[in-house]
Amino acid sequence: MTSLTIRPRRLRQSAAVRRLMAETRLDPAQLVLPVFVKEGIDEPRPIVSMPGVVHHSLGSLRAAAVQAAEAGLGGIMLFGIPEQRDAVGSGATDPDGILNVATRVVAEEVGEALVVQTDLCLDEFTDHGHCGVLASDGSVDNDATLERYREMAIAQADAGSALLGLSGMMDGQVAAVREALDAAGRSDVLLLGYAAKYASAFYGPFRDAVESALQGDRRTYQLDPANRREGRREAVLDIEQGADVVMVKPAMSYLDVLADVAATSPVPVWAYQVSGEYAMVEAAAANGWIDRDRAVLETITGIRRAGADAVLTYWAVEVAGWLRTR
Ligand code: PBG
Repeated sequence: MTSLTIRPRRLRQSAAVRRLMAETRLDPAQLVLPVFVKEGIDEPRPIVSMPGVVHHSLGSLRAAAVQAAEAGLGGIMLFGIPEQRDAVGSGATDPDGILNVATRVVAEEVGEALVVQTDLCLDEFTDHGHCGVLASDGSVDNDATLERYREMAIAQADAGSALLGLSGMMDGQVAAVREALDAAGRSDVLLLGYAAKYASAFYGPFRDAVESALQGDRRTYQLDPANRREGRREAVLDIEQGADVVMVKPAMSYLDVLADVAATSPVPVWAYQVSGEYAMVEAAAANGWIDRDRAVLETITGIRRAGADAVLTYWAVEVAGWLRTR
């Protein structure tokens, strides 16, 4: 007979005990589905590097939004892929640009049930693929870009977006957009600061998905993966500028940053499980190397455990379905 009295395994002895003791729970309302809508197509088209994810037509997007609402998700985040691109990303501010048209469609369809969100960044709309406009020397001009972001914010709010995802990593972007919206009488529109967005290889499949024109990289504006303290600093700055929510992105390789930000943030903290994180699991699962569904749940649970209040994930609808039937 052993004299052990402290037996942590008591907490793991049965499914019922484990279920009661779980520290982290997932709820469909904490999941946000990112979607891509492409101008000029009539049918959804698969994205090769993101198996299971498609380029939506306006029609299939409408159906996907309804499905997301029926799944009980918290929100849907729209990305647009225009047919024409130019130096300043005109399509981003055109009310008839694909993202703004799609936002109108989705807001009309599910605007009551879901928080309809839009990516506020120029990279999908510029012919050079950068997140801002360029100075004559080819560098990304921070303050000229802020002017474009202000205009883009108004266009997106007019289209019916309830929450703008500021993913461009320009200095002062949250304050600039907040001021523009407030001046236009739109203090109701929420701002998500992609506070700690790292220059990551895990955006690779996304760049395929948006047919990115980018030559070079985004290292003069996105964070260096080596830096943890700087991620915290960016979150502090976004909060000071009035961000309603802050984001850490990508998720899995930045759980320390996420935990740091979550430990001190006075506002909700979200994480974006990006395209490369999705593609890795799908590719390994397709090879039979991991149990796909368990791996998917484990990644999202880990992101929540690290401190994310909500998670943007391409698996949102599927996972919500599992959560409801469990
Ligand atoms: C920029 C943006 C990016 C992603 C979302 N918004 C990528 C980038 O900086 O190239 C990546 C999302 C993903 O990889 O899933 N508009």
